[in-house]
Amino acid sequence: MKKLIAGNWKMNGNLAANDALVRAVVWGIREAACTVAVCVPAPYLAQVQMLRAGSQLELGAQDLSQHEQGAYTGEVSAAMLKEFGVRYAIVGHSERRQYHGETDAVVAEKAKVALAAGITPIVCVGETLAEREAGRTEEVVKRQMAAVIHTNGHCISEIVVAYEPVWAIGTGRTATPEQAQQMHALLRAQLKAATEHADRVRILYGGSMNAGNAASLLAQSDIDGGLIGGASLKAPDFLQIIAAAA
Ligand code: 13P
Repeated sequence: MKKLIAGNWKMNGNLAANDALVRAVVWGIREAACTVAVCVPAPYLAQVQMLRAGSQLELGAQDLSQHEQGAYTGEVSAAMLKEFGVRYAIVGHSERRQYHGETDAVVAEKAKVALAAGITPIVCVGETLAEREAGRTEEVVKRQMAAVIHTNGHCISEIVVAYEPVWAIGTGRTATPEQAQQMHALLRAQLKAATEHADRVRILYGGSMNAGNAASLLAQSDIDGGLIGGASLKAPDFLQIIAAAA
């Protein structure tokens, strides 16, 4: 299975910076051995779609509505994303769960509408520091994953999962390769109980992954790629992570 390295720009970027970043990434991945995507803010989808044309770079969104269409001011539908060539959509990022009240059920619905539109959801799961310290890591992550499995049935083999421990996001504090592998193996086992195709589900690690620590994380048997925040905004760093995934 080819690894997937996906950048999550979060709410960063502007037309000029995006132009330079995407051009550098497109150039840098000409011979990349893994799949590479950038998940950009919705207003920049059209810009990045044009910049990536003819390259191997895949386009991703950072969220989508669980509704198909209608009176949902401010929301963006899966069908709209599809029109802009979006191949992946992050769903259930901890920042959406934390600041926008997204529940396990909403995240599961978002994964479902993405799949129905032919967009691969990158479903994020992960425990907070308080949950880890309380010894609840496995319980929390299993619960988050179970909701998505329950709503999506056999289609679950079509998703991408991202294990992102909340305490590692943007903090410079990464899970050790062993800590991450342990959770990835747990997620793989949970997927195996739901589908015979669990081996083709890519389980990404996210949380302060950078040029220095990517290789040791990506060497773990159940780590099939990365979801990269801060380091995806600097082309040389992002490209070094991509090289580590080869
Ligand atoms: P950082 O790589 O900035 O820690 O962010 C990780 C993340 O949240 C990716 O979705």
